[in-house]
Amino acid sequence: MRFKNLLFLLVLVAFGCKETKEEPKEKKELIMAKTSEMAQLMNEMYAYNESIKQQIIDGGFDNSFPEKFKNIHSAVLTDPNDRDESFESFSKLFLEAQQAVFESQSEDLTANYNKAINACISCHEVKCVGPIPRIKKLLIK
Ligand code: HEC
Repeated sequence: MRFKNLLFLLVLVAFGCKETKEEPKEKKELIMAKTSEMAQLMNEMYAYNESIKQQIIDGGFDNSFPEKFKNIHSAVLTDPNDRDESFESFSKLFLEAQQAVFESQSEDLTANYNKAINACISCHEVKCVGPIPRIKKLLIK
């Protein structure tokens, strides 16, 4: 009986999605509901590193560390079980590596930038392998 109710609810939800498709505002809410706080932060970190990559290559880098990245310690994950001890230590290593980029002498900038990207990849190898090919594109060759 309970299972049937659940099925009914699922069908309702599915139809609900279809019906809201024509409404742009509700559609946006739908997408936001699917993207976790952490996934959103990750996408921002991706975009940010993509932009500083170009600045480093062009030799015009003068940004300061985005404090927002520290939210990696608190942002809600799609699967809250992902936040375990290894996640916390990878987060710490990543933040240290990312911060070092902003404290670099210009001759170490590229190497330190690549270290930060490799810190993204280290965590992803354990926690979320899907985006790794994309993240590798951030590396400066
Ligand atoms: C401490 C571990 C860890 C670090 C460090 C880390 N990630 Fe992630 N990343 C994750 C996890 C876990 C997810 C899945 C998040 C979710 O679905 O809630 C994720 C998701 C993503 C996604 C997919 C987002 C989406 O829309 O689903 C991208 C892209 C990404 N990370 C890029 C990066 C980049 C770039 C860096 C470094 C600047 C980085 N990550 C650092 C663990 C990490």
